[in-house]
Amino acid sequence: MPVPTFDVPFVLGMMRLHETAEMHQPNHLADWIEARLEQGLHWFDHADIYGNGAGETLFGQALRARPALANRLSVVTKASIANDNPSPGSGKVKHYNASPAYLNRAIDDALNRLSVERIDHFLIHRPDLLMDAEATGRALDEAIEAGKIGAAGVSNHLASQWRRLQNAMHHPLRANQIELSIAHSAPLFDGSFDDLCADSHAPMAWSPLAGGRLMQGEIAHTLKRLANEHDSTPGAMALAWLRSLPNRPAPVVGSVKPERITDMLKGPESLPREAWYALLEAARGHCVA
Ligand SMILES: NC(=O)c1ccc[n+]([C@@H]2O[C@H](COP(=O)([O-])OP(=O)(O)OC[C@H]3O[C@@H](n4cnc5c(N)ncnc54)[C@H](OP(=O)(O)O)[C@@H]3O)[C@@H](O)[C@H]2O)c1
Repeated sequence: MPVPTFDVPFVLGMMRLHETAEMHQPNHLADWIEARLEQGLHWFDHADIYGNGAGETLFGQALRARPALANRLSVVTKASIANDNPSPGSGKVKHYNASPAYLNRAIDDALNRLSVERIDHFLIHRPDLLMDAEATGRALDEAIEAGKIGAAGVSNHLASQWRRLQNAMHHPLRANQIELSIAHSAPLFDGSFDDLCADSHAPMAWSPLAGGRLMQGEIAHTLKRLANEHDSTPGAMALAWLRSLPNRPAPVVGSVKPERITDMLKGPESLPREAWYALLEAARGHCVA
């Protein structure tokens, strides 16, 4: 079975889905999903911690309300962050867990909550420093062979960490989700972006608008100017900046507002060099050497 690739202008991030009251109505969310599919956006990025399971649960309720949608879309989900935001005095400690027992349970729970037959990409959300790579690698291989996940991947890992895991696996790690934007370009300078390209991982860029900060200050000014020149919008230009990189990273956008999503589609596939470097310069406050 071919591993899915991100053949879309951007992936829809589901971290903020549960924050919008109307999205709690299954039919409203089903309409929203259908409208995105009509726009050619069929990849949705989840994690078990988004809304403490609420993001996946709401999405699954919408798919149960309109089952025909499930065959038209693809999902990414992530797990390994345990006891996220423990309440003070609960005695719980936030930690990372990539043990086979934890990940197997997370995969089964995500399949149930999302109401899909397969998770297209399952990512280890954060590196578990206590991971037994042999055991975790075997668990991920088995989940692929059981048809529960299409492919395994990582997020926020160092190359040395994912290579230790890969060395214990038969199946290749496929997707690799990192923080990357005009305002967070460090992976382009510290070798980590090159590392994931070298290993043929499909790059995904989380917080591609730096959580909205790109829409303020000097970068916003430059984005606006370039958007006018390219008959585009600032958000679309920021995503084109990412897609211009080698291996065409898939931006994972956070807004679920239809008008913003539509605006982000009004952009070029990639940027000419001078526009790309003008944005880098605006973010760093100086030109390249
Ligand atoms: N792997 C990881 O560790 C990790 C970590 C964080 C996030 N993620 C993934 O990445 C996704 C995106 O993260 P993010 O929400 O930080 O991404 P983002 O797209 O950089 O930021 C989205 C935020 O920008 C705001 N915004 C302001 N102006 C906007 C404009 N013109 N167009 C669009 N948005 C605008 C949005 O506000 P409104 O909501 O009001 O539109 C929203 O609050 C998440 O949903 C999640 O799937 C992954």
